[in-house]
Amino acid sequence: MALVSFHDVQKTYRSLQGVDYTAVERFNVEIEAGEFFCLLGPSGCGKTTVLKMLAGFEAPTAGQILMEGRAVTGASRDRGVVFQGDDSLYGWLSAVENVEFGLRMQRVRPTPRRERAMRYLELVGLKGQEQKYPAELSGGMKQRIQIARALVNEPKMLLMDEPFAALDAQTRSLMQLELANIWQATRTTVLFITHDIDEAVTLGKRARQAHRRDARRAPIAGEGRDRGGAGWRAQPDGRGVPTLLQASL
Ligand SMILES: Nc1ncnc2c1ncn2[C@@H]1O[C@H](COP(=O)(O)OP(=O)(O)OP(=O)(O)O)[C@@H](O)[C@H]1O
Ligand SMILES: [Mg+2]
Repeated sequence: MALVSFHDVQKTYRSLQGVDYTAVERFNVEIEAGEFFCLLGPSGCGKTTVLKMLAGFEAPTAGQILMEGRAVTGASRDRGVVFQGDDSLYGWLSAVENVEFGLRMQRVRPTPRRERAMRYLELVGLKGQEQKYPAELSGGMKQRIQIARALVNEPKMLLMDEPFAALDAQTRSLMQLELANIWQATRTTVLFITHDIDEAVTLGKRARQAHRRDARRAPIAGEGRDRGGAGWRAQPDGRGVPTLLQASL
């Protein structure tokens, strides 16, 4: 059984003006446990919407999302989320306090929670930086803290929405390599969202590329229909693509 499955998932937003907009339509995908799954597509095709539905932040308007056979009905520690920006860190907490924040909420005692936070800070390459505050850290370091903060809960799945988009090319490529290493070390299932084909090829064991298709053939996003009847449809891709990860799988 797949860890996660989307069955004919649809999301229609109602705008403030009362107009309906279908961002995701008849979306079907299965993600296996331990898989690094890249969802690739152009801006506005519905990628973040898919992630938010799996995270439990948004409910589908139709269809079903199952995790381990159970419907996703809300947010859960089983699914850690890493956002695009780095402003989701608490500016008044140090790096290690940011990482252990979730454990504190779960009332994990100070000693074990500090130990766990330090372990994950080390995993993301931030040993020695634990007492710094977000304002004293670079963009790449802040993204690493976000990753550590999600991993410290030992989630079944890591959901990442263009986490490296704001980084310079060199840091981005370093972070991609580190993420690949982290994934291999933890084998946490990853859903990685990007609009950058190079990033998807580098990272994805399986990439799904949104192609321009006839709207009747199950678009994942309605955006294309505004442009003369075409839609976007996620298609399996990446098989046989010489990716960094495939080489070492
Ligand atoms: N809360 C909302 N209300 C109304 N429309 C929305 C809402 N959120 C997203 N949309 C619309 O749904 C479509 C898909 O948005 P989404 O954020 O999922 O795209 P995306 O693929 O993540 O794009 P990007 O690569 O730019 O981040 C867009 O046209 C967007 O305007
Ligand atoms: Mg997005």
